Amino acid sequence: MLAYFLFAITAVTGVLAAGPVELEPAFTLRVGIENPIPIGPVIQGYGMSYTVGRNGTIVSAPGAAVSVNATIIAANDIIHADPGSGRLRLNVHGVARTTSGTIFQFGYTGIATPNEEFNKVLSHAPDAKSNEFGAIVSHHTFEIPVAAPELAGLNNNLFVSAGRLLYNPDRSITVEYVASKVLTGK
Ligand SMILES: *[C@@H]1O[C@H](CO)[C@@H](O)[C@H](O)[C@H]1NC(C)=O
Ligand SMILES: *[C@@H]1O[C@H](CO)[C@@H](O)[C@H](O)[C@H]1NC(C)=O
Repeated sequence: MLAYFLFAITAVTGVLAAGPVELEPAFTLRVGIENPIPIGPVIQGYGMSYTVGRNGTIVSAPGAAVSVNATIIAANDIIHADPGSGRLRLNVHGVARTTSGTIFQFGYTGIATPNEEFNKVLSHAPDAKSNEFGAIVSHHTFEIPVAAPELAGLNNNLFVSAGRLLYNPDRSITVEYVASKVLTGK
């Protein structure tokens, strides 16, 4: 009965249609990647490849609840390719160091749905150029040392982002994620 009333109220106000979740700007993560190393189809049937993230930054949005300015020390990505669709499942782990010397773990899982522009960057095509957002969505997590309580908010919240490939003037590839914190109950 209660559930029915809640449904009726939210249906009238439109809250149900929009959902109870809101997003707040959190940070931008940029990681420079090496060309993926193909591992090939594995026994389970999907394709796999490996990519090293060699440099990058994690910088908070102006006014974000957690202020962070960090340099990526190292990162790696085991990529699974769905058979058939070519959709890529990203699984990244890395460590970063803040300007004040705190080292923390960051990770994310993402789904990339490659389009022509995306594939041009990955294959270093002559007419490759930085992509618009749209091909990558991701979910970011952190492990923060006890000694850095000012960063605990990264550990205690969920972050989602849209990502895209940037093609740098030196023909290197940067993956850029603009992340938001998930807010509930608003
Ligand atoms: C990483 O290094 C490359 C140079 O090889 C540079 O173009 C890029 O801007 C650097 N940073 C990021 C975040 O990719
Ligand atoms: C982050 O730190 C670097 C120095 O390591 C500095 O050049 C840059 O301006 C800082 N960015 C922000 C947004 O504070």
